[in-house]
Amino acid sequence: LKAAVAGTSGYTGLILLRRLYNHPEITEIIPVSSSKAGNNILEIDPGLGKNIYSKMNLTEGKCINIEKLGSYKPDVVFAALPHLKSAELLKNVLLKTVVIDLSADFRIHAPELFRAAYGCRPPREDLLDKAVYGLCEWYKDKIRDYDIIANPGCYPTSVLLPVLPLLKEKAVSGNIIVNSISGISGAGKKLNENLLFCERTENAGAYAPCRTHRHVTEMEGELKKEDSNVKLYFTPHLAPLKQGITSTITADIKKGMSSDEINNIYKKYYGEAVFISIKGNYIPQTMDVRGSNRCDIGWHLDDDKIFVFSCIDNLIKGASGQAVQNMNIRFGIDEHTGLEFFGEA
Ligand SMILES: NC(=O)c1ccc[n+]([C@@H]2O[C@H](COP(=O)([O-])OP(=O)(O)OC[C@H]3O[C@@H](n4cnc5c(N)ncnc54)[C@H](OP(=O)(O)O)[C@@H]3O)[C@@H](O)[C@H]2O)c1
Repeated sequence: LKAAVAGTSGYTGLILLRRLYNHPEITEIIPVSSSKAGNNILEIDPGLGKNIYSKMNLTEGKCINIEKLGSYKPDVVFAALPHLKSAELLKNVLLKTVVIDLSADFRIHAPELFRAAYGCRPPREDLLDKAVYGLCEWYKDKIRDYDIIANPGCYPTSVLLPVLPLLKEKAVSGNIIVNSISGISGAGKKLNENLLFCERTENAGAYAPCRTHRHVTEMEGELKKEDSNVKLYFTPHLAPLKQGITSTITADIKKGMSSDEINNIYKKYYGEAVFISIKGNYIPQTMDVRGSNRCDIGWHLDDDKIFVFSCIDNLIKGASGQAVQNMNIRFGIDEHTGLEFFGEA
């Protein structure tokens, strides 16, 4: 397969290059960059090493401008671009090739909900019915049939994977309270005074509390498909980590439900899932999943409450890894291909 990466110089774009280089079904990588078009890929990231050239014959290791992308006829385009820019920049390739969009542009289909989160109507409202929400373990069958795959957000991945099975089995109901901690790379590479090293090191705290973070709309929309009465209270926190997300989810649990029954629910939905680790009463840690495409899930029961703990690497399962997993599903490749690597991303 010929794969293009748009937004090459960003955090998720550079990880995509590594994962695609290690992917046996990828024969050619086309790096696309707005800010660095014409630059050699090793000028952008010397860490990639010269071997990357063996899969960049078409562009001779140089980044191309997105306007030229169509002429390279990629089989799949990974768009690691900012939301509200991505759909527009992709205009020449949408529906001509498979697009896996890491931005939010195709994630929320109800225009009024998209506006509530992003302040405007979805940029390509006309194409929303051609896009699938790419939460791999939940929508695998649908993903195979779509040419626009909206890769989920990082916080939503860490929350939806553990909560959806419990909702579907009516084990939890009502208000769901989530506190998440994220590493700083979740905000991308763009300059922001609040994200400078001296602002963030030895410092941790909440932001966008309760229902004000834009991912609430994305998450609640998916949760309501299983239970229309559910309401989400989500408070993200930043901690001085490079990468990683841990989410602590609190909800009312059905009376008398045991830990074994919770385990059985997760086994029912994820027993065959390559990238979900069901941990029981072990509380997963971000370092357990660092560099992996896994979501680890543990829990604790207390009377009428369940506390569920999930961990992902925001840059891998929360972004580039899940995007490669989506490609594997879409093209009928074994799901774990190119994603076996566990360790520093
Ligand atoms: N970071 C995460 O943990 C994470 C997780 C899930 C989803 N996402 C989503 O994935 C996408 C990429 O995230 P990221 O963290 O990789 O962001 P990033 O580090 O900020 O990189 C985004 C890249 O997009 C390109 N770009 C930026 N502004 C642009 C503009 N105005 N016009 C055209 N291109 C522009 C740039 O690359 P070039 O100049 O090389 O084109 C930039 O490096 C975002 O939509 C983000 O919300 C990120």
